[in-house]
Amino acid sequence: MGPVDTRVKVRVAAKVNLYLRLATRGDDGYHELSTVFHAVSLFDEVVAERRADDVIDVHTHGGQSDRVRDDATNLAVRAAVLLRAEHGQADQGVHLDITKTIPVAGGMAGGSADAAAALLACSVLGDLDTTPDDLHDLAAKIGSDVPFALLGGTAIGHGRGEQLVPVLTRGSYQWVLALAPRGLSTPQVFRQFDEQIARGEVEPMPQSGTEPPRELLNALAGGDAEGVAEHMHNDLQEAACQICPELRKTLEVGKRAGALVGIISGSGPTCAFLCASQTDARNVEAVLKILPQVHEVRRASGPVPGAQLVS
Ligand code: C5P
Repeated sequence: MGPVDTRVKVRVAAKVNLYLRLATRGDDGYHELSTVFHAVSLFDEVVAERRADDVIDVHTHGGQSDRVRDDATNLAVRAAVLLRAEHGQADQGVHLDITKTIPVAGGMAGGSADAAAALLACSVLGDLDTTPDDLHDLAAKIGSDVPFALLGGTAIGHGRGEQLVPVLTRGSYQWVLALAPRGLSTPQVFRQFDEQIARGEVEPMPQSGTEPPRELLNALAGGDAEGVAEHMHNDLQEAACQICPELRKTLEVGKRAGALVGIISGSGPTCAFLCASQTDARNVEAVLKILPQVHEVRRASGPVPGAQLVS
């Protein structure tokens, strides 16, 4: 890849959180967290193309693209603008073309994934002198989940989610993802969590830097899907279910259909079911598909890599 490239394509994965514990909201408005991110095989594609002028714009197509705003608030545009301001030249315009497969506002970091892909695509397109650390720092400025979208695999996250340590895993995990007909606002789910703390319904994470359970990390290292399922946890699950009570039913039905566990992905409303085998995953998929509150069902496996250059 060199300065002559006029078009660069990057593929980027969605994530689920295998574990998510949150402290109370800090003075900066964010919740310190302890999480285990896991990249799964639902992919968005971002193509970055040179423009003759200095405009940075975006067009999104594919599933649910009508829910994405193709303006300056789009995280991929914000990524390209920030990258240019810090490492590029003011007259370098770029057109971003996003093909969406990751659910929008689904708790699977779809917008963050597009931002990560845009950072990589634009830095290759512009032949910029950016190091992985530079991209990580820019990613953290754009959103809490963007650094993991660059990294991929399975990783422990601290801080807002930007302090990452890769986790050793063995084997491949089978997932069934039940998508809801409408998205959930991440800030709204976090506010619901704050209210739960105020009402004494949940205990926030006691101190910063709390590690995810050793049993979960051991199960991941051993390729033990049942052990992983046993120790999965999401502090935002109850908050998401209070806002969308029908999610409880989806979780229950998926488990009864044979999943090892069902969990809300991130801030929801996507429900992620870990299954022991592809056969079990197909059965769970078939049952979830007929639920009226489920918009669409996808199967995926993880872990998969982070943002990657395709062409
Ligand atoms: O970082 P990002 O813009 O993706 O976060 C979206 C919103 O989610 C924040 O405005 C905040 O309300 C909430 N959030 C939080 N604590 C985190 C991450 C996100 O409260 N660690």
